[in-house]
Amino acid sequence: MSRIFSGVQPTGNLHLGNYLGAIRNFVRLQDDYECIYCAVDMHAITVWQDPQQLKNNVREVAAAYLASGVDPEKSIIFAQSNVAAHAELAWIFNCVARLGWLNRMTQFKEKAGKNRENASLGLYAYPSLMAADILVYKATHVPVGEDQKQHLELTRDIAQKFNNDYGTETFPLVEPLIFGEATRVMSLRDGTKKMSKSDPSDYSRIALTDGPDEIAKKLKKARTDAEPLPEKMEDLSERPEAANLVGIYAALADCTKAEVLAEHAGSQFSSFKPILTELAVEKFGPIGAEMKRLMADPGHVDAVLKDGAERAQALAEPVIREVKETVGFLVS
Ligand code: AMP
Ligand code: TRP
Repeated sequence: MSRIFSGVQPTGNLHLGNYLGAIRNFVRLQDDYECIYCAVDMHAITVWQDPQQLKNNVREVAAAYLASGVDPEKSIIFAQSNVAAHAELAWIFNCVARLGWLNRMTQFKEKAGKNRENASLGLYAYPSLMAADILVYKATHVPVGEDQKQHLELTRDIAQKFNNDYGTETFPLVEPLIFGEATRVMSLRDGTKKMSKSDPSDYSRIALTDGPDEIAKKLKKARTDAEPLPEKMEDLSERPEAANLVGIYAALADCTKAEVLAEHAGSQFSSFKPILTELAVEKFGPIGAEMKRLMADPGHVDAVLKDGAERAQALAEPVIREVKETVGFLVS
C-alpha cells in the first residue's frame, strides 16, 4: 500500500515555486492514494517567527491547499505541532542520525550562513524532524520540489539504520516524487537563484495571493536576455532566465518545454511575456481569490485543521507505540 506525506513551512509568501513544485502535485495524487498534507510549524520555528504571524501563516498554508484543490474529505490537512508523535519520533531519530550525515546538508549550510555558531540547534536537527514527519505515518512516497531531494535521502538513511540497529522492518524506504516541468522554479530577478519565500525582493517571486496587476507587473519586470526564444532545448542551457520562463509556461499550460519552444520559437520576450501573464492570471487568479476568501473567515480552515489533526493522530498512534516498544521504552 502506498501512502503520501508532504509538508510546507508556514513562513509566509507562498509562491509559484511552492505551487508548481509541490502543492499542485499534492492535488493530482489524492485520487489514487491516501494523502497526508501538513503545515510544518515546528520546522518554521527553527528560525525566528513572530507568534501571531505564525498562526496566520499556518492558516495560509491550509488555505493554499484547499484553494488549490486538496479535498479535506479525501486527504488529511493538519498542523504538525498538533500531533505530538512527530516530536517524539524526531527525538528517537536524533539518536539514530549521525552528526556526519547532518553536516552534509546543504540547506542547513545555506540557512545558517556564515554565522553557523549562532544557528539554532533545531535548524541543525531539521532533517531528522522531517524524517519523523514522514515515517510516523510509514508514508512511502513524498511529493516535493527538487531542493528536498537530499533531505529525503537522509530520511532513507535514518529508516535503514533504525531497521538495522533494531533488527526490524519497521520503516519503509521512502521514494521522492519530483515531477512536472517546474520542479525548481528560479527567481524572476536572477535565474541562478531559487525562487524563495525569504528573498527580500517581492519582485523575485509571484505570490499565490498576487492579483492580475501584480502578476503582470512582476512578469514585465522579470529579468531576461535580449535574444528571442530558440528552437531547440539545448539552446536554453546557457540562458537561465529564459529557461525559467519557458519552464513556468510549460508547467502552467501542462505541456513540455519542447512544445512551448515549438510554438514560440523566434518570439521576443516583449511578446512572450504578455502571453505568459495571461496564462498565469488564468491559472492562478482563482486560487489567490479563494485563498483570500478563506483567510477572511478562518473558521472553516480551523475546523479542517482540527479534523485533520484528529485523523492524523489516529494514524500516528500505533506507529509511535510500535517504535517505543522496539526501542525498549515501557509502554503502558
Ligand atoms: P518550503 O517553502 O521550503 O516549505 O517548500 C515547500 C515545498 O515547495 C517543498 O516541496 C519545496 O521543494 C517546494 N519548493 C520550494 N521552493 C521551490 C521552487 N523555487 N521551485 C520548486 N519547488 C519549490
Ligand atoms: N523541508 C520541507 C521544505 O522546506 C518541508 C517539510 C517538512 C517536508 N517536513 C516534510 C516536506 C516532510 C516533505 C515531507 O520544503
